[in-house]
Amino acid sequence: MGFSSSLLQASFVAASLFASFVSADLISDLTGQHSFSVVVPGGAGYANASQAFNLRYTFHPTAITFPSTPSDVSTILSLASKYNHQAVARSGGHSYIANGLGGKDGVLIVDLRNFNAITVDSKTNVASIGTGNRLGNVALGLNAKGRALPHGTCPYVGIGGHSGHGGYGFTSRKWGLTLDTIVALDVVLANGTIVTASQSNYPDLFWALRGSSSSFGIVTTVHANTFAAPSSATVFEYNWDLSASQAAAATAAFQSFVVSSSLPQEFGAELVLGAGSKKGRVSFGLTGGWYAPANQLAAVLAPYLKAVGVKPQSQTVTPGTYIESVGILGGLTGNRLNTSVAPDGHDTFYAKSLMTPEAQPMSAKSLQAFYDYLGSTGFSADSSWFVEIELYGGFNSAINNVPFDSTSFGKRNAMFTIQFYTSAPNNVPPFPQDGFSLLDGMVNSIVDNNPSNWDYGAYLNYIDDRLQNWQNLYYGSHYPKLEALKKQYDPEDVFKFPLSVEEK
Ligand SMILES: Cc1cc2nc3c(=O)[nH]c(=O)nc-3n(C[C@H](O)[C@H](O)[C@H](O)COP(=O)(O)OP(=O)(O)OC[C@H]3O[C@@H](n4cnc5c(N)ncnc54)[C@H](O)[C@@H]3O)c2cc1C
Ligand SMILES: *[C@@H]1O[C@H](CO)[C@@H](O)[C@H](O)[C@H]1NC(C)=O
Ligand SMILES: *[C@@H]1O[C@H](CO)[C@@H](O)[C@H](O)[C@H]1NC(C)=O
Ligand SMILES: *[C@@H]1O[C@H](CO)[C@@H](O)[C@H](O)[C@H]1NC(C)=O
Repeated sequence: MGFSSSLLQASFVAASLFASFVSADLISDLTGQHSFSVVVPGGAGYANASQAFNLRYTFHPTAITFPSTPSDVSTILSLASKYNHQAVARSGGHSYIANGLGGKDGVLIVDLRNFNAITVDSKTNVASIGTGNRLGNVALGLNAKGRALPHGTCPYVGIGGHSGHGGYGFTSRKWGLTLDTIVALDVVLANGTIVTASQSNYPDLFWALRGSSSSFGIVTTVHANTFAAPSSATVFEYNWDLSASQAAAATAAFQSFVVSSSLPQEFGAELVLGAGSKKGRVSFGLTGGWYAPANQLAAVLAPYLKAVGVKPQSQTVTPGTYIESVGILGGLTGNRLNTSVAPDGHDTFYAKSLMTPEAQPMSAKSLQAFYDYLGSTGFSADSSWFVEIELYGGFNSAINNVPFDSTSFGKRNAMFTIQFYTSAPNNVPPFPQDGFSLLDGMVNSIVDNNPSNWDYGAYLNYIDDRLQNWQNLYYGSHYPKLEALKKQYDPEDVFKFPLSVEEK
């Protein structure tokens, strides 16, 4: 213990000395600007401002800047470029691998928290959302105008990173991913140029930013089409404790259920898996949102509940308003969606993802292997874990109705995005090394037991720096075009971080 903490301290001192040595001129140019604040190594608030959401990572940025206008961001990027220094944007700071801190030591951070405006054009219903906003505040701000966007459930996730790489929630089968709603983006390019990218202005940049924004610029405002907030929304949750074979059958049944032409777009759901009550069993849940009249849900769910064939141990069905559903799904209630009121939490975790092809559902053999693994290795694991099988596809899903080439998002043919997630005991460091092999084993049990030409992928918002073949799994056949655009829009590779788009 003593050894590792003094080692940590030594590397901290070394990193900050190194950073301050090579960046003294950059820092003095930044602090000389006065139109925005800058937090520097050794200065007040530096430790707090450079803390990652995922405490598995500790990085020491060159400085953290807090611009308030696109012109401030332009000044910061021009200075980074002048000193040949790397820079990254941070919106909500929820990157799984701390890429909002550059994913390594010695990067200049552009923190967007001051870009916190939310307005809705009363004629077009296009919302203009500053990228410093968190999802909870976006939901509240839009709901006040009777509007809504598709987005994830965690209120503290930032709209900047989320909308730049996907953005999935239970309304996505009806409304698409967050990035599908974007009509224009105010962005500052690596060379400091401020542009508004849209279908008619910088269309290739607009394409790249919707799927891979972090590699191409710093987005200050997202302009997005909104939807009328549904007049009612129902959150449902069913839980079973199943044997591995029962869980495999219940998952196969879900794969058949979701492609049925009677499944409405208003149905959004995921299967949530965890350690079971004893060896050989798993905790199996069905959670989701229903965005149509509450009294119609039972008939929609009935065929699936019948197919599972086992009585749930518990069930909760909560009808209410749309904004109440956002609060329940966020694990919060009512005004707690306002993230300015209570501070964000932290975790110490590792996560992986797998996007499964709708045309090639997971084989019965792979499901059996997967649940056998969860019931054995998973059951006896020291770290806590969960798996979420999120429904992206199914009959008439808005996510997959978007033409593949209309945005740079890497996959439009997935049935599920599966998230595998494990946390250190008590959510604090150190992260146990066997957490990595635990999740590798989960993914391998599925991939290794499906055909060798299985067309799977991975989801960039669940970014994993241990992933092999990430270019193909995250970006698919869009990668070569992204590499070419990277050379055009960021020739000096200012936005370089783990798994950023490379230059061709
Ligand atoms: C608790 C939790 C719950 C989650 N739930 C969901 C969910 O339900 N659905 C889902 O789809 N995802 C979910 N995610 C994943 C989430 O979408 C990503 O982690 C997202 O990228 C975080 O965005 P951020 O702005 O908070 O993070 P940051 O760390 O600030 O940014 C993430 C990446 O985007 C870049 N970036 C940030 N802002 C900008 C900008 N303005 N311009 C250009 N690049 C930018 C950063 O440089 C970094 O590379 C969840 C994550 C967590 C931690
Ligand atoms: C620490 O940072 C968080 C967000 O990054 C901020 O809300 C909080 O005010 C900061 N705390 C202090 C003591 O500066
Ligand atoms: C959130 O809370 C802050 C601080 O109390 C307040 O200023 C702000 O108006 C609230 N925002 C919303 C959308 O309710
Ligand atoms: C900055 O980069 C953009 C995109 O490549 C380019 O159009 C613009 O001319 C560049 N501006 C300067 C000043 O070099």
